[in-house]
Amino acid sequence: MSDRVRFGLLGFGLFGAHHARAIQNAPHAELVAVTANSEASRNAAREEFPGVDVLDNYRQVLERDDVDVVDVVLPNLLHYEAAMAALSAGKHVLLEKPMALTWSQCDDLVRTARDANLTLAIGHELRLSSLWGGVKQLIMDGAIGRVQHVLVELSRFPYRPGSGGWRYDISRVGSWILEEPIHFFDLAQWYLEQSGDPVSVYARANSRDPEHPELRDNFSSIVNYADGAYAVISQTLAAFGHHQSAKITGEKGCIWASWSASDARSDRPVFWLRWGLGDQVQEMTFDKPAGELLELADEIEAIANCITDGGQPPCTAEDGRWSTRLCLASEASIERDGPVRIADLLEAP
Ligand SMILES: NC(=O)c1ccc[n+]([C@@H]2O[C@H](COP(=O)([O-])OP(=O)(O)OC[C@H]3O[C@@H](n4cnc5c(N)ncnc54)[C@H](OP(=O)(O)O)[C@@H]3O)[C@@H](O)[C@H]2O)c1
Repeated sequence: MSDRVRFGLLGFGLFGAHHARAIQNAPHAELVAVTANSEASRNAAREEFPGVDVLDNYRQVLERDDVDVVDVVLPNLLHYEAAMAALSAGKHVLLEKPMALTWSQCDDLVRTARDANLTLAIGHELRLSSLWGGVKQLIMDGAIGRVQHVLVELSRFPYRPGSGGWRYDISRVGSWILEEPIHFFDLAQWYLEQSGDPVSVYARANSRDPEHPELRDNFSSIVNYADGAYAVISQTLAAFGHHQSAKITGEKGCIWASWSASDARSDRPVFWLRWGLGDQVQEMTFDKPAGELLELADEIEAIANCITDGGQPPCTAEDGRWSTRLCLASEASIERDGPVRIADLLEAP
């Protein structure tokens, strides 16, 4: 392997183009091939990345000997099929969230990567954020003692349709909970690592569109853990801008973090992190700003390094399976109009 890990990118849409830039700019990564569906997207890739092979079928990327990692940035429905094909071709995989659309697909992916001894990293880039990672560091440093309650909330503008409108087609997106709230389930799981696996979920949601109740604009879910800790994940898409907050409460105090901008990819966010109890409050200072594109850049470099060194990616396949499971358990809870035990879903055929 050369000193740069060679990436083949599947998908050159809005986020795929950002992946391409992050790969090109990463010190230990190199973009060797890109694929997209339409001639227009392929031309855009050729224009921006003249030295990179642009192909019209993603399976051509998998056949190449000069690709070490396949980076899947396709509409959600294609994640499982593309990641399985890449692993079966002996490639490491960076798979955008959601990892897949069902529990059993997630299990297949975890097993296939493990059996083949290949890295399967999931795109929960918020773990690399100076802000959301700063929260994790404070928890690990014992700043608030044992965590008892996590609230992660987002108010934002409605989802973009995506190429060919896949995001507004439930058969191709899977669930709107799998789009953005999945990141917050991942953060909550990460912050509540000491509490072990979640035991039950209770969720509520509604839609602004009476003809599409399955497209859930307003969504809240409570995730319960065996030790009594719990997380609340909440999102509304009927808002403006992009405003995310997290409040983590422990036995010795609380951490509050907030990030706000016109868009998650804005380079001019307002963000802060404070922690304390009563009149004792401290504020974190940051050497580095927080924002999705900065985190994506760090994620690509971290994955390139973990493939070279044989380490763990920032978000493993097992982590990605949990965030997907909690979204799907929330969907099940909304459908049943009641709480859902994780064990019951694990036992379901
Ligand atoms: N981690 C994050 O924060 C984050 C943020 C945004 C998106 N995402 C995820 O990233 C994925 C892509 O999202 P996006 O916003 O970039 O969507 P998008 O703009 O709609 O782009 C999708 C891309 O996939 C291509 N494509 C579709 N079918 C294909 C096929 N059969 N073979 C090859 N290429 C195909 C499309 O080609 P054409 O352009 O030619 O149509 C397009 O380039 C989604 O899973 C989304 O959930 C993650």
